Amino acid sequence: MSQYPALRMRRRRQAPWMRAMLTEHRLHPSDFIWPLFICEGEGEEQPITALRGVSRWSIDKLVEQVKMARDAGIPCVALFPNTPEDKRTEDEALNPDNLICRAVKAIKDAVPEIGVMTDVALDPYTPHGHDGVLAADGSVDNDATIALLTQQAVVQARAGADIVAPSDMMDGRIGAIRNALEENGHTNTAIMAYAAKYASSLYGPFREAVGSGDRLKGDKKGYQMNPANGDEAMAEVELDIAEGADFVMVKPGLLYLDVVARVSDTFDTPVFAYMTSGEYAMIEETAAAGAGDRDTMLMEALTAFKRAGATGILSYHALEVARKLR
Ligand code: PBG
Repeated sequence: MSQYPALRMRRRRQAPWMRAMLTEHRLHPSDFIWPLFICEGEGEEQPITALRGVSRWSIDKLVEQVKMARDAGIPCVALFPNTPEDKRTEDEALNPDNLICRAVKAIKDAVPEIGVMTDVALDPYTPHGHDGVLAADGSVDNDATIALLTQQAVVQARAGADIVAPSDMMDGRIGAIRNALEENGHTNTAIMAYAAKYASSLYGPFREAVGSGDRLKGDKKGYQMNPANGDEAMAEVELDIAEGADFVMVKPGLLYLDVVARVSDTFDTPVFAYMTSGEYAMIEETAAAGAGDRDTMLMEALTAFKRAGATGILSYHALEVARKLR
C-alpha cells in the first residue's frame, strides 16, 4: 500500500505550513560561537580585505560587539589576536597582559553573561606563523610546543577564559593542558579540542586577519590532518576525548560534514564545527558575483551543519544570523 500512487512524498511538501510542520532541523541563536579578531589601539575597526564584512576590533570596540552578541542570544565568543609586529615572540603567548588576556578581562568585566573561548596555539605569536616552536630540522617540535601551550592555556584561564581551545594539533596536548588546568585550580575551565583539524586550503582569510599568512613558511601538513582521511579523524577525536576534552571540533566544517556526522553518530561528546574563513568567503564571493542569493545560501549552509549533527557552529556570520533568527 505504501507505494506510488497511494504514497506521494510531494503530499508532504504541498504548502508552507506543511513544510514548516515537518522541518527536521532548525537553527537557533544558541547554536553559535562567534569568532572575533582583536587588534591593539582604541576606537579601531580594521576591515579584513579577504573577509568581506568582518573586521578586527580594538578591545573597547570589541566589548560593544560582544554586547550585541549577548543581546542576540549568542552564548559564546571565540577570540583571535592580531599581535603587533614587535611582539611576535613565543614569550608573548605567555604574557598575562597580552592582547587576548586583556580582551578576556574586558569582556568578563563588561559582559559576564557570555562565554569566552580563547585560542591555544602559537601562530599569532611566532615569527614564522607555525602553531608551535620549530626544531632544528624546521619541523614543529611536538613536546617543546606542548610545554608552552600548557602555560598559555593556564594564562588564558587565569585571565578569565571559560573555554580554552587548542587549535594546534600537537599529540598529547589535551591531556597535558587538562593536567595543568587542574594543578592551577582551573577545574571549571573547559577544553574545546580542535580534534580533527585539517591542513586545509580554506584558512587563507583567517591568516590575513591574524597576520600570520605572509609569515608562514611551508605548510602545516606535518601536524594538521590530510584532507583525504576520515578514519583518522575518528582516532583523533577518540584520543582527545580520552585525554579530557569537554567538546571536540571538526574544522573546516562545510567540506567535512561527513566527518561531523560520523563523530556525532559515534561519540556522546558535543561536537562543534567551524565554518572557516574560506567557507565564509565562498558564500560571500559567490553572492558578490551575482551567482546566488546570499541569505538563502547562508541559511542553507548553516542548516547543513545541524543536519549533520553538529551541536554548534563557529561562524563569522553568527551575529547577523542570530539577530535574524530572533
Ligand atoms: C590557527 C588557526 C587557524 C584557524 C583557526 N585557528 C588557521 C591555521 O591553522 O592556519 C582558521 C580559522 C579560519 O580559517 O576561519 N591556530
